[in-house]
Amino acid sequence: MNPLADPGISSVRIRACHGLKGDFRLPGDKSISHRAAMIASIGIGASRIYNYSTARDCQNTIECLTMLGVPFRRGDDGSFTVEGVGTDGFRQANACLDAGNSGSTLRMISGILAGLPYCTEIQGDESLARRPMRRIIDPLEAMGARIEARDENFPPLRIFGGNLHGIEYALPVASAQVKSCVLLAGLFAAGRTTVIEPTPTRNHTELMLRECGVELMTEKTAEQMSISLTGGQCLRPLGEYTVAGDVSSAAFFLVAALITDPSDMALKHIGINTSRTAVIDVLRQMGGQVLTGNQRVVHGEQVADLGATSSRLEGEIELSGPIIANLIDEIPILSIAATQLHGTFTVRDAHELRVKESDRIRSIVDNLSRMGVDVDEYEDGFRIEGPQKLHGARVDSYGDHRIAMAFTVAGLIAEGETEIVGADAAAVSLPEFFDILSESGATVGRH
Ligand code: S3P
Repeated sequence: MNPLADPGISSVRIRACHGLKGDFRLPGDKSISHRAAMIASIGIGASRIYNYSTARDCQNTIECLTMLGVPFRRGDDGSFTVEGVGTDGFRQANACLDAGNSGSTLRMISGILAGLPYCTEIQGDESLARRPMRRIIDPLEAMGARIEARDENFPPLRIFGGNLHGIEYALPVASAQVKSCVLLAGLFAAGRTTVIEPTPTRNHTELMLRECGVELMTEKTAEQMSISLTGGQCLRPLGEYTVAGDVSSAAFFLVAALITDPSDMALKHIGINTSRTAVIDVLRQMGGQVLTGNQRVVHGEQVADLGATSSRLEGEIELSGPIIANLIDEIPILSIAATQLHGTFTVRDAHELRVKESDRIRSIVDNLSRMGVDVDEYEDGFRIEGPQKLHGARVDSYGDHRIAMAFTVAGLIAEGETEIVGADAAAVSLPEFFDILSESGATVGRH
């Protein structure tokens, strides 16, 4: 049962399980789904998106685009049909857009809003209202938009758009959301827009724009990557587009299978774009048996079936530098695997974790400590010496979907019962999380 279906269900109780089994297909990738909705809206003509993410975040994106006059229709098979309106076809929203909990929605759609010749307001929930937006305000203002924000940094934003011109922009923080925001604004701008990334981040926007016929120039040197496009191009529709399964969601099940025994789980049709799969590399480096099969390319994205079986985890793992950008969403679940590692697991250079849906370094350290794990906290990361025994405890999701799911997995190997307060946050990215876990053999009590 989807925890969102019953607003009364907010906490989940979980006990140690005897192995997880089964073959599952996961809903579409959250990052790709946001982009599919936005880019199909900017294209001219009809697109049909299959396996669109069921994440609440991705529903927020559709709702925002609908308020901008883009017609979305949901089919019986769960697909969405979008009538793309082109860069000139958006209409002025008659109320404030609401991105909910979704940083991707707010930051990326702001690139579109900056291109529209009127004022649009956009807000988010309590968590999003605390997340920094200066990183998109600076480049969008340099392109000619004017943006008002609370304390010049935080949502709600009032975006006075139109009349943009291209810029060359070097990203001060490695962020695919900011890169995508500037590239989307570039489609509405006169002349050429170039984004320079010091560290490569997920490239779904670039791949999808190419699918829609956008001419995109990329240049790679040892130090950086630059991506350029010229404004005013007509995008053709995405057409029939099937979103690959979400590898960030898959990571929770991969780790759950690795650390419980006897487990054997398969996840079909998962996106394995190399800008997203550092988590698989790290799990393998830890001795995790993660298999990849049936590899293929769909709409420019690499896709495969993944499998994981119970494994002894061992090694000295130090994660820092450029790999962090490629792993940022998977660090919460890696911290749970780390407690079972015969060795030391260290994360550094991950300041960005402090400004996600929660301060994820704090959330991880606090919840692990409640479960009896000894963990050192740093300003930019943490360190765990494993293996350690976990004790059932009352932990908190901090309203953060990835913390809710990571600590549910922790409960599968803890002695006694673990209660995850605010577990319904999981629906922000994977409403089916508890169902899949139950179907694979875990006992999940919902309250
Ligand atoms: C995302 C980029 C990352 C990631 C987020 C999704 C995206 O954020 O953490 O969950 O879809 O582009 P940043 O761009 O802030 O690193």
